[in-house]
Amino acid sequence: MERVPIHGSGGASEIWVGGRLDRLAERLPAGRRVVVVTDANVQRLYGHCLPPDLLQLVIGTGEGIKTLDTVADIYGALLDAGADRSAFLLGVGGGIVCDVTGFAASTYMRGVGFAFAATTLLAQVDASVGGKNGVNFRGFKNMVGTFNQPAFVICDPAVLSTLPEVEVQCGLAEVVKHALIADRALLSFLEDNAERAVALEPDVVRRLVGDSVRIKSAVVNRDERESGERRKLNFGHTFGHAVEKVAGVPHGHAVSVGMVVAAEISAARGRIGRQEVDRIRALLERLGLPLRTDADREAVLAALGRDKKRQGDRIHFVLLDAPGRAVVEEIALEELQSAAAGVC
Ligand SMILES: NC(=O)c1ccc[n+]([C@@H]2O[C@H](COP(=O)([O-])OP(=O)(O)OC[C@H]3O[C@@H](n4cnc5c(N)ncnc54)[C@H](O)[C@@H]3O)[C@@H](O)[C@H]2O)c1
Repeated sequence: MERVPIHGSGGASEIWVGGRLDRLAERLPAGRRVVVVTDANVQRLYGHCLPPDLLQLVIGTGEGIKTLDTVADIYGALLDAGADRSAFLLGVGGGIVCDVTGFAASTYMRGVGFAFAATTLLAQVDASVGGKNGVNFRGFKNMVGTFNQPAFVICDPAVLSTLPEVEVQCGLAEVVKHALIADRALLSFLEDNAERAVALEPDVVRRLVGDSVRIKSAVVNRDERESGERRKLNFGHTFGHAVEKVAGVPHGHAVSVGMVVAAEISAARGRIGRQEVDRIRALLERLGLPLRTDADREAVLAALGRDKKRQGDRIHFVLLDAPGRAVVEEIALEELQSAAAGVC
């Protein structure tokens, strides 16, 4: 097991990579009322691994339940259970459970303690790290939220064995992103172990999660409130969000296409070579991630035109200076048009 410390302005946190869900009780704060928030799938699969005396609040599944209504249900259940300011919320689940739990805990009685047991690869490598918690509002993603660090996060590789294939792919897309923006060695490791990563071999997963957590937390520590450095974490996401909106494909699939576009633009600007673009495409393919989308190109470009990062006919975009090093640059929407022609 490896401990990765995080130092945010919202407090310190520690991430236990390789920690075990069935030994979670050892990490819970003594003498405090611990309430579990989980979703129906995770409760069915892993509810029995949790300490039996803890109240478990079960929320539904899917992006549609990441709302203030769900948070209000949690406040209500906490009040009914007599939970006071010493209560401690434990989110056990994927990114949705983590986001809802972190937001509910940060606002209930002006804030109670909380922690996560992250059960999807995406939550382990991304959503549980960085201290952002929030819910959707009127259909807009993550419109209402807080910056606040969980006391700890447990990332148990064993629970990933029950994940549907597409959820594994979505987590791997974020790992590729971390490697491309910040860690050449992780990129080589992924290339050497792509099939073992897809098969979720525990040793490989531990390295992918550990490195991802270190990369994301280092970026967040330097720029917790997203004024500069943290934008690099959006690599592949600007185009990806537009694809996701238009085609309704899984987030990680859209990000994969977005990373291809960003790599192509980086090459067109002479920052990386053709063989590096091919290398990125080959890795994504081996991980089961798509290189193109059926989404209508004009609709994707129209969605990009509405992106909040757009300023006039230019947009802030994360490019590669080299594999393992990202830069944020302004690019013209025209440049995006020609890169888009290669993927949709
Ligand atoms: N706060 C952040 O910094 C941050 C970063 C990235 C993503 N997010 C958010 O994370 C959310 C997506 O997270 P996600 O991809 O984990 O989705 P998710 O929480 O919906 O989980 C995906 C599915 O897997 C199921 N599941 C969870 N663990 C399982 C397991 N071990 N075995 C089998 N099934 C399991 C869930 O019930 C769900 O159906 C989005 O809402 C996104 O906005 C937040």
